[in-house]
Amino acid sequence: MTFFYKERKLILAIESSCDETSVAVIENGDQILSNIVASQVKSHRRFGGVVPEVASRHHVEEITLCIEDALMEAEVGPADLSGVAVTYGPGLVGALLIGISAAKAFAWAHDLPLIPVNHMSGHIYAAHFVEPLQFPLMALLVSGGHTELVYMKETGSFEIIGETRDDAAGEAYDKVGRVLGLSYPSGKEIDTLAHLGQDTYHFPRAMMKEDNYDFSFSGLKSSFINTVHNAQQREEALSIENLAASFQASVIDVLVDKTIRACKEYPVKQLVMAGGVAANQGLRERLSQEIADQLPETTFIVPPLRLCGDNAAMIGAAAFVEAEKGHLADAHLNAEPSLSFKTIGQ
Ligand code: KG4
Ligand code: ZN
Repeated sequence: MTFFYKERKLILAIESSCDETSVAVIENGDQILSNIVASQVKSHRRFGGVVPEVASRHHVEEITLCIEDALMEAEVGPADLSGVAVTYGPGLVGALLIGISAAKAFAWAHDLPLIPVNHMSGHIYAAHFVEPLQFPLMALLVSGGHTELVYMKETGSFEIIGETRDDAAGEAYDKVGRVLGLSYPSGKEIDTLAHLGQDTYHFPRAMMKEDNYDFSFSGLKSSFINTVHNAQQREEALSIENLAASFQASVIDVLVDKTIRACKEYPVKQLVMAGGVAANQGLRERLSQEIADQLPETTFIVPPLRLCGDNAAMIGAAAFVEAEKGHLADAHLNAEPSLSFKTIGQ
């Protein structure tokens, strides 16, 4: 099937890679007509993390309702659409398959082309709702499952120049949050606590001085857990605010240091920060300050909070680029849980 725009440039986008079921209608690649997000976070909270089977069940219950709501809110019908976009990876296989099956069924029923979208490219293109992306561009992707620096020479081209060797930044937030007895996901709460404390514990800054753009957060996590356990054994009091501030200072130091270095080596017009951890207030403030001081020619773009977490609007924005490149899928489209920028054409 070929791709062509109808009277209006409208794409229906579906996202179900983790624990949010989301459907959006996007016009012209940069206007959100609707962006319905059904979060399952309450169901996963009591388990301290996302339970894949529970996630899939929720997606099944929510997906058709979200599609109906997204169309209704956008005040459009299937006949107005030019295509259906869907996240096909990376993510939880069962969760991805629900979105993919719904997208295929909808596309088939309404004779629409199917546009497969990489979830991480969606996180980057969320910035396109703030201002048009300009290339070359650097993206710092920080979420619960990923921490990577992606260089984009042009639209739709992705080169990972650095990534985490172990835990993702968001994963580290959630794991130390668990040790502090905070509820899942704990990034936001640690961010709030960090603003009330000081960096008194001086946790390590892993790999900061190494001559590459890779990250590591498991040493920081172990150091944090050891500090808490040792204090508990000695029955010493700990300051939860100072622990949060010290942990956050270490995460921010390495992310900011490597990102600034990368932007110096690969001169870019824009730096985009995206993914759930991009909601972090401390990280936003530090990175924007450092960019202003050290790279005043580079524009720093962070999507608004509601577009930092998983949502279908960002998938719709990325889909316009894929559609224009003619990257379409047929009914054989399958979930690719480990999809990486390395596994798609550059
Ligand atoms: O992108 P996202 O919504 O889902 C994934 O694709 O992973 O990111 C979720 C992650 C969680 O680990 C959560 O703790 C973290 O983003 N997060 C934060 C903040 N808000 C959410 N981490 C640090 N500071 C925040 N304010
Ligand atoms: Zn995500």
